[in-house]
Amino acid sequence: MNAGQSLVAKRLEGKVALITGGASGIGESTARLFVKHGAKVLIADIQDELGHSLCKELGTPDFISYIHCDVTCETDVQNAVDLAVSEYGKLDIMFNNAGIPGDLEIRAITSDIENFKRVLDVNVFGAFLGAKHAARVMIPAKKGCILFTASVASLVCLGISHAYTTSKHAVVGMTKSLSVELGEYGIRVNCISPHAVVTPLLQKTLGILDKRKGEEILSTTAVLKGTILEPEDVAQAALFLASDEAKYLSGVNLPVDGGYSLNNPTWKTGLQNCNENIQPS
Ligand SMILES: NC(=O)c1ccc[n+]([C@@H]2O[C@H](COP(=O)([O-])OP(=O)(O)OC[C@H]3O[C@@H](n4cnc5c(N)ncnc54)[C@H](O)[C@@H]3O)[C@@H](O)[C@H]2O)c1
Repeated sequence: MNAGQSLVAKRLEGKVALITGGASGIGESTARLFVKHGAKVLIADIQDELGHSLCKELGTPDFISYIHCDVTCETDVQNAVDLAVSEYGKLDIMFNNAGIPGDLEIRAITSDIENFKRVLDVNVFGAFLGAKHAARVMIPAKKGCILFTASVASLVCLGISHAYTTSKHAVVGMTKSLSVELGEYGIRVNCISPHAVVTPLLQKTLGILDKRKGEEILSTTAVLKGTILEPEDVAQAALFLASDEAKYLSGVNLPVDGGYSLNNPTWKTGLQNCNENIQPS
């Protein structure tokens, strides 16, 4: 270790984290960052091969391990929380990050109701199960941190599916509601709302295989120019919210969107269109 590295404080030293959807994308980046900051991490996902190979790459089972866990199945979630406690002694951080986009239909009248239910099942019910079982072990400890991944779709209507938008608004409501109940026990509850970020989820959804191409497309729609939102940036937000530096933050929906949700260009473009259409007399 060089002198520079030794100066980097390990912000999660001694903490135990469970990350759902931790085998890929934002969850994977968060697992990497949490381990780097001294946390013991249990990854819970349904992509077993990816989960196991990530653990192999990141360290020994003393620090990181994997459990198959479908977040829509209460027994799976219960087992994952119990494993974190039996393997690592406690649970400090529960990151309910697993999520699916569902199909791309944006019109209500042609929406498939089974798809709508599936999206809510994973993104809302699954996230709630994570919070429920985390609270079960955090309440007696009188501390803990519960995080969710919502989305910029919880802040603005992007013209994407009603199911996904609804699910991410629900995550924010759940964050607020849980933060009030669980504050009584010293448990903080927050969520993160990233703008679009190139992960396997987004690549599959948009049908863009090339990462660079995906980033190019996203940067043209971004408000903040000169940089690109990466999964690591969302992981950094999770690190902050999970760390003691955020000890009095609870009930917050933290946008990681470079100001995107503040921008409503319809007024400006509407006026521009009007001006173009008004012919000088
Ligand atoms: N990528 C984006 O643009 C973006 C933007 C805003 C929010 N999000 C949210 O971020 C979260 C992570 O998404 P990502 O982009 O990293 O996608 P990803 O597909 O790379 O990762 C999601 C992970 O969740 C897992 N998962 C899916 N269903 C599951 C289930 N039933 N049980 C357990 N695990 C399950 C997948 O196997 C996968 O490993 C999601 O909640 C997503 O809605 C993503």
